[in-house]
Amino acid sequence: MKFFVDSANIDEIKKLNEWGIISGVTTNPSLLSKEKGKPYEVLKQICEIVKGPVSAEVTSLEFNEMIEEAQRLADIHPNIVVKIPFTEDGIKAIKYLSEKGILVNTTLIFNPIQALVAARVGSRYVSPFVGRLDDIGHDGLSIVKEIVEIFTIHDIETEVIAASIRNPRHVLLSALYGAHIATIPPNVFHQMIKHPLTDIGIEKFLEDWKKKEQ
Ligand code: E4P
Repeated sequence: MKFFVDSANIDEIKKLNEWGIISGVTTNPSLLSKEKGKPYEVLKQICEIVKGPVSAEVTSLEFNEMIEEAQRLADIHPNIVVKIPFTEDGIKAIKYLSEKGILVNTTLIFNPIQALVAARVGSRYVSPFVGRLDDIGHDGLSIVKEIVEIFTIHDIETEVIAASIRNPRHVLLSALYGAHIATIPPNVFHQMIKHPLTDIGIEKFLEDWKKKEQ
């Protein structure tokens, strides 16, 4: 499973990119609206930092407007992947854009059938939202598991991005369930690498080392 960062914050993206484990970035209108600077400029900057797919979402809901906006987003940089929400117009847009060679990440997926439909119209990625399903008392991770199973049974190449990740356990189970990618907010990356026994272990090694006469 690859790691994407789910953020539009340039400083955080730069910092995490230096770790060397970031294969891509996902943004959304809410994330971009929190940052300073014009969204298209911010997206361009992100593409220059991370060498991998960068998802940028359309805010139009009507088919013609969606594909025009998608084209404008795709023109920002060759690594832009256009995020399309799963609606009727969205489905038509996914098909149109995929046939034109523009990569699509279908977003706001909340059940496996939506993911299958998106894949069948050519979506390169599908993003099931784990945390938002958990928030309403469902088991978000079971959706990831089922989508991966369906794609495996039917030999579908569309990649599954576990999204709306809220904690390291979401990351762990996404990996166990076969998600191709998890898109992770910066705070969860920091939680993932921390273990109190690692810190205690370092402290103890250094303490013992200091006691030894050199
Ligand atoms: C996915 O691509 C979305 O940007 C994101 O994961 C949404 O997560 P949230 O539910 O924390 O807003």
